[in-house]
Amino acid sequence: MAMFPTKVKILHRLLQSRHPFWSSPSLGGAPCSRLVLGIETSCDDTGAAVLDETGEILGESLHSQKEVHLRTGGIIPTVARQLHRENIERVVQEALERSVTDPSRLSAVATTVKPGLGLSLGVGLEFSQRFVRQHNLPFIPIHHMEAHALTVRMLQPVAFPFLVLLVSGGHSLLAVARGVDDFLLLGHTLDEAPGDTLDKVARRLSLIKHPQCSTLSGGQAIELLAKDGDRMRFPFRTPMGQTYDCCFSFAGLRNQVNMLIMKKEAEEGIGQGTLLSCVNDIAAAAQHTVASHLAKRTHRAILFCKAIGLLPSSSPTLVLSGGVASNQYIRKALTLITDATGLRLLCPPAKFCTDNGVMIAWNGVERLREGKGILPPDVDVSYEPKARLGVDMTAEVKAAAIRLPSVRMKIPN
Ligand code: KG4
Ligand code: ZN
Repeated sequence: MAMFPTKVKILHRLLQSRHPFWSSPSLGGAPCSRLVLGIETSCDDTGAAVLDETGEILGESLHSQKEVHLRTGGIIPTVARQLHRENIERVVQEALERSVTDPSRLSAVATTVKPGLGLSLGVGLEFSQRFVRQHNLPFIPIHHMEAHALTVRMLQPVAFPFLVLLVSGGHSLLAVARGVDDFLLLGHTLDEAPGDTLDKVARRLSLIKHPQCSTLSGGQAIELLAKDGDRMRFPFRTPMGQTYDCCFSFAGLRNQVNMLIMKKEAEEGIGQGTLLSCVNDIAAAAQHTVASHLAKRTHRAILFCKAIGLLPSSSPTLVLSGGVASNQYIRKALTLITDATGLRLLCPPAKFCTDNGVMIAWNGVERLREGKGILPPDVDVSYEPKARLGVDMTAEVKAAAIRLPSVRMKIPN
């Protein structure tokens, strides 16, 4: 039974691709929806997807390099580039085949061109430019963080403006999304991203040797172990308690955790590379501190937005996305804040929080609908490893110096 709608969809697409005139509005059929191919290679996932204008995913494919990078203890850019090169052709082909879409049926190709690892972005961009020239298709360059921010709109109606917290292995930022290409940046990380911190802590704890964690990313491993840990046993300081803005910092927390690990290794008479007996408690305390820090900065961002009227009075919304947003404990911490401030919290399911071709294709759909940022196939586009999101409002946020009312971070496990 579950196969039925898919079969109908495939049949429908077959008819459309073989006899496109059948669905032509002039012949009385339903209007033919425009299709966008999305391509993502900004970090360690090679993703592609074909979406129609309503946001229906017609076909997708994703190749993750996670396991390779787990073994080498972090992403080596040249290795990431090589793996993207080896997989991009197949991944795009699979997405097209699964959607039963011939390239000639596409209305545009949307590809991540910023920000990200230069060598990885280069593979997707080079492939895409060749592809659009070969098939004479419009090209839509995509900002990876804009795509994360807007993915939620593919899943349910969410009107602009809304507040968004994006937390991943490469980013940590708070922004107001006001339109497809209109963002106000309220806060960003001053050093590393929370996913990066959790990945590094997991590596320092050698969690890859833990029987339950060998195939998990650092963040996933910390979340799993924290479930059986006591977060009160090692109270870490929440970062930036005396800085009244919405920026983030995680390097100091990593330092606190590393110092504790060294102390515990000395106490237990073991060296680096051996699992400590208290990994669960360290994971729980580190996760709690990351969650509290994210919650407090977000709380201030909400108060700032309210103070200057950046969010609608009816149904103001916080969207949480990025790889770290799949963490249930962090979601609960943010729920405490949205409950206290009267916001609705929306968080896409985990598979749409992490990197994939779908979110890029969706951003392409949004831009195509509005006619924004669509280029002819022959225009040369460069990738940009560093690219801020939107208009920088961090100085205004800092100047407002908003003090937070106390909210007890009693987060259920
Ligand atoms: O968005 P993403 O797939 O890639 C980018 O960084 O752009 O996010 C990957 C990051 C990794 O750092 C990973 O450790 C983290 O998201 N992550 C998590 C969880 N799942 C993935 N962090 C905390 N809890 C999780 N459940
Ligand atoms: Zn991402």
